Amino acid sequence: MKPQMRNLNLFLFLLLSLHFISVLSWKREEFRNCNQTPFCKRARARKPGSCSLLARHVIISDGDVTAKLLPKNHETSEDHHEINPLLLTLSLYQDGVLRLKIDEDPSLGPPKKRFEVPDVIVPEFSNNKLWLQRISTETIDGDTGPSSIVHLADGYEAVLRHDPFEVYVREKGSGNRVISLNSHGLFDFEPLTAKGEGEEWEESFRENTDTRPYGPQSISFDVSFYAADFVYGIPEHATSLALKPTRGPGVEYSEPYRLFNLDVFEYIHDSPFGIYGSIPFMISHGKSRGTSGFFWLNAAEMQIDVMGAGWDADSGISLPSEKTRIDTFWMSEAGIVDAFFFVGPGPKDVVRQYMSVTGMPAMPQLFATAYHQCRWNYRDEEDVEDVDSKFDEHNIPYDVLWLDIEHTDGKRYFTWDRMLFPHPEEMQRKLAAKGRHMVTIVDPHIKRDDSYNVHKEATKKGYYVKDASGNDFDGWCWSGSSSYPDMLNPEIRSWWADRFSFEHYVGSTPSLYIWNDMNEPSVFNGPELTMPRDALHYGDVEHRELHNAYGYYFHMATANGLVKRGEGKDRPFVLSRALFAGSQRHGAVWTGDNSAEWDHLRVSVPMVLTLGLTGLPFSGADVGGFFGNPEPELLVRWYQLGAYYPFFRAHAHHDTKRREPWLFGERNTELIRDAIHVRYTLIPYFYTLFREANTSGVPVVRPLWMEFPSEEATFSNDEAFMVGNSILVQGIYTERAKVASVYLPGRQSWYDLRTGTSYRGGMTHKLTVSEDTIPAFQRAGTIIPRKDRFRRSSTQMVNDPFTLVIALNSSQAAEGELYVDDGKSFEFEHGAYIHRRFVLSDGKLTSVNLAPASSGKSRFSSETVIERIILLGHTHSPKSALIEVTNQKVDIGLGPLWLQWGRGSAVVTVRKPGIRIADDWTIKFL
Ligand code: NOJ
Repeated sequence: MKPQMRNLNLFLFLLLSLHFISVLSWKREEFRNCNQTPFCKRARARKPGSCSLLARHVIISDGDVTAKLLPKNHETSEDHHEINPLLLTLSLYQDGVLRLKIDEDPSLGPPKKRFEVPDVIVPEFSNNKLWLQRISTETIDGDTGPSSIVHLADGYEAVLRHDPFEVYVREKGSGNRVISLNSHGLFDFEPLTAKGEGEEWEESFRENTDTRPYGPQSISFDVSFYAADFVYGIPEHATSLALKPTRGPGVEYSEPYRLFNLDVFEYIHDSPFGIYGSIPFMISHGKSRGTSGFFWLNAAEMQIDVMGAGWDADSGISLPSEKTRIDTFWMSEAGIVDAFFFVGPGPKDVVRQYMSVTGMPAMPQLFATAYHQCRWNYRDEEDVEDVDSKFDEHNIPYDVLWLDIEHTDGKRYFTWDRMLFPHPEEMQRKLAAKGRHMVTIVDPHIKRDDSYNVHKEATKKGYYVKDASGNDFDGWCWSGSSSYPDMLNPEIRSWWADRFSFEHYVGSTPSLYIWNDMNEPSVFNGPELTMPRDALHYGDVEHRELHNAYGYYFHMATANGLVKRGEGKDRPFVLSRALFAGSQRHGAVWTGDNSAEWDHLRVSVPMVLTLGLTGLPFSGADVGGFFGNPEPELLVRWYQLGAYYPFFRAHAHHDTKRREPWLFGERNTELIRDAIHVRYTLIPYFYTLFREANTSGVPVVRPLWMEFPSEEATFSNDEAFMVGNSILVQGIYTERAKVASVYLPGRQSWYDLRTGTSYRGGMTHKLTVSEDTIPAFQRAGTIIPRKDRFRRSSTQMVNDPFTLVIALNSSQAAEGELYVDDGKSFEFEHGAYIHRRFVLSDGKLTSVNLAPASSGKSRFSSETVIERIILLGHTHSPKSALIEVTNQKVDIGLGPLWLQWGRGSAVVTVRKPGIRIADDWTIKFL
């Protein structure tokens, strides 16, 4: 070979490898870092104490505290921009919620109204408002001027310090602070200004230019959490549960946590980089006091620093509780300050307080809590039929088969590629006959094709987001040149919802549900793969102001569409990739395009836990990892863990090898089948937990510290998690693991879910790990309802009998709940459900009705019985059991009792007690 040829070959090889590397890794350079983001860079450069605002004219108006924020010198701010006073409002709500709003004064003529995010705060929240009658003033130690104090809740007061301006919540009596804002004097609010002669506000990043017609308009401030050991929350990031510091000496992360919804290709597993969703809600937790929370309702790009120890060493500002205080710094590109402080004091209290603002999670349909099978793509009807029948052949239950973008006619959503899917209705009906459902994908990019009716109508009605010059925004996505419906506008949302009617969505049937993807929104040729910030929405809102909520409104409109389609009878199911505060009211979310790597399996746990803590109980990660081909061992471990995700779906990229559960040899099929079976047996328990989330906001899967808030050993543990209050699960995150260290909290014992073997609480156990299962334990003192018969789908299990697994604590007592409804409709909202509490104490198991007698007009009845009761950890073996159903007494005698010795623990099984779950009954163990 000639040397030139060799060089050329080498060059081509290098080029190809480079291409390969760039295809297979996160393209960091496509996204801005803080230094490339002017508002972030400016804010981070500010010095503590640089805020010179004072609170003046503090009065009560309409039941709120209002004040004006003025700079000390009244004329110019530090940045030399003219400053008008800002308006501050402090409002108090029941249950220890304090709301702080700061905005420009509209009467002083800012060039436009700044954006306030609509339709996130639930209307009921305003009923919780406490109308203030009076403020007291107090001169706090060392201050020259007064502070205004108002009573917030039992034991708490809100303080507005006038000079320097600061807001905080403190405990009454002790005066200990709980949360504070602007204690470090970092508050800054850039007012909108009309562009002056020769002023240059454009910002460029790579080949994109943002015209920024209103100039800089960012807001930043510091928030401190007191008596806090860790802070958590602010999804979505692929990082640890306890947030690592991002500023200060020796910190691991140098970038702030970014909240900017982006379609990040191949995100990395340990990074503060922002991915598909944003919830600006942070929770602090500490051993000495408990939990508190802070939520900033703002949909613009946000960046949040968690300050490490010593970050302010030379600031000269001294604050109480240096050691257990965590300082954070919040920066947003636009919007207003609309912030909420939550006092806790327990983790579940904070979650409830946050939910009182953003709404309780929707109750899913029963089928949606079971296992979902997805792949990009199931090719055609034959493929669908084949996959479906193989599940039956291999005796593996599943509930939902998903179709990705290739099922459409050229990525025109609401259509079918009729060559591949000539009979979509029949295909869905066949699945439905087995109690199964189908999900199809509907993305927000609408193909700009004049023969496509959705596009024609949206164009005619002027329903698309506009570009900076007022034309329909045209961006590139799966469907090529595309436009995006303006989901901020309620009229457009309603139009979008109508697209899901059976009449409009031809080929859809009642068993079809929806997947919303690419709704950040993803724009392949846009800045950072999204929509330009100067694009325009309804009401002249700039895209920069609402960016993080676009996907939320899209999710909302789709979910409403499914409700409308069923004439308000059936609960919708919509999975969304983009998310925002309040997404919990509209459906499920998943963690996007992860990779088939052990580290991604590992990080899925803190990601799902964080979503749960910040209000979204219904989430999961792609089982198996989206990109790449998992080794069978990783796939099996992923199924074993994924069986405990609230949303349990396997999914894979189209370039990966097929990986349906039966493709890896008999043993692996068996292991995957077992993992899926575990989920199916626990569906009654999961469904009960979804109802708990629906009524209290407490997530389905929880960090250990949520159940054991005073156990420090749990605070940063994100390898293990609780499913409800009764099951602890420890993932296995390494190849060929032989042992696992599992910390079991609390003073009570734990019972291995499979063997019943008991383990002491309050210590770390070194356990031998087998390939059969990941470690999972039932907590002593709890009762778990199960269904143990294997069927094809959850729907087919509806009338199956229950098993109660009772794990006794050291006082030989236990408690648990069971919630059952029709699994589908909204009738439960009118009282049509069964909700029982099972209590075992003094040798007597009682089923107590938790549904209020007058809970509504609707009734739900069920003939389903309990077929088995398993007792773990009893100290005296009962000889017989006497069952009393309301007034009848049946002595079931010795016969049905069955004593079994498991490994290390005796198990008593009561067989066929035959009692209905709908009845009141007691069983005396004699
Ligand atoms: C990106 C999504 O994250 C992924 O799950 C999906 O398969 C592809 N888009 C294609 O629709």
